[in-house]
Amino acid sequence: MKFSFKCLVAMSRVSYNEIYKYSPPSWCKHLEKCPTHRAALALTPTPIHAWKVPGLPEDVKLFVKRDDMTGAALSGNKVRKLEFLLADAIQKGCGSVITCGALQSNHCRATAVAASQLGLETHLLLRSEEDVDAIKSSGNLFLSQMCNANVYLVPKRAKYETELKPRQEALAEAILKKTGKPAYPICVGGSDSVGLHGYLNAWNELLDQKVQDNFDDVIVTCGSGGTIAGISIGNYLTGGKLKIHAVAVCDDAAYFHGHINSMLEEIGLSSETCSEDIVDIIEGYKGAGYGISTPEDHELYRKLAAATGIFCDPVYSGKGIKGLISELNINRKRFKGDRFLFVHTGGIFGLYDERMFDFFEKDVNRIYDWKDIEKSANGFLES
Ligand SMILES: Cc1ncc(COP(=O)(O)O)c(C=O)c1O
Repeated sequence: MKFSFKCLVAMSRVSYNEIYKYSPPSWCKHLEKCPTHRAALALTPTPIHAWKVPGLPEDVKLFVKRDDMTGAALSGNKVRKLEFLLADAIQKGCGSVITCGALQSNHCRATAVAASQLGLETHLLLRSEEDVDAIKSSGNLFLSQMCNANVYLVPKRAKYETELKPRQEALAEAILKKTGKPAYPICVGGSDSVGLHGYLNAWNELLDQKVQDNFDDVIVTCGSGGTIAGISIGNYLTGGKLKIHAVAVCDDAAYFHGHINSMLEEIGLSSETCSEDIVDIIEGYKGAGYGISTPEDHELYRKLAAATGIFCDPVYSGKGIKGLISELNINRKRFKGDRFLFVHTGGIFGLYDERMFDFFEKDVNRIYDWKDIEKSANGFLES
């Protein structure tokens, strides 16, 4: 393919290191606190296709929205929120961002990668019980380190408002003194009223993809609540034609309704609706706790990969799809119809943390030595 100079210049204008003026979709223009700028980070629109997940009731038509494909290292749902958060940071003249999450946080990795793309420094407060010397770099943490993120270990159960936010503020003050530039704080998961626009905008993309004509129910995994807030508010603002569900991988329904209700308040919608009316939070699938998975879960992820080529991670999407399969079998009446769209929110690097490293040795090793195959008398090589 041949490109003219003009064409190359035009292409570089939509390069991944600039921010652009943003005009929200017409149906959410009236909301309070609409962002004015956006960075181009996500590779969108992400595709929708049929997903033949084993174990579903026969009449169920399941499709998947591939938000695991918003990028490569910069992949998953967080990218959409970061388009607005990092644009806001740049608009405010910040030279760095400070965010927080689990040691293997997808959000923190995505922040580090996106910040590198946009020329910002990253500071991460990561929850861990381990000493600095015991930390092994793997999965998301490895990628964050590759992007030169500064990592500060904080207690595993540190709460955002009372323990992490004050640390963010102290760090921001120190950074301002040292560099002369403010640092931009991002809450856990980027799930605030700025990040919310990532999934309001994704809803607009879904409208273009005819979600209202082709589906009855939309399902997403929820961790900090920003993704489901955007999808459920988007559905509400455009006529509420679908039923929206979120499988919780931590906390509980009361927590997520509280979060969505505070979003509704911030953007000026709390007098017309409430979270309880616009989203069904599915509890019962966080297992022994956030981030904890079982050998049976790992076997499910393998089966899904082997049968469909789609990877689910042990912290988010794996629990989300497990919840959906199970509810479709045991609690079908909570859904509206038989056409389902699962929004795959990514998380592939969670499969590269250490928990499944010995999985194939123990269970399903299919690595053979060619010499043994040649020698084997079972006719494997004979046609
Ligand atoms: C892969 C993945 N899926 C789902 C979620 C949940 O999204 P949210 O935090 O917006 O609820 C997260 C992050 O928390 C995630 O990293």
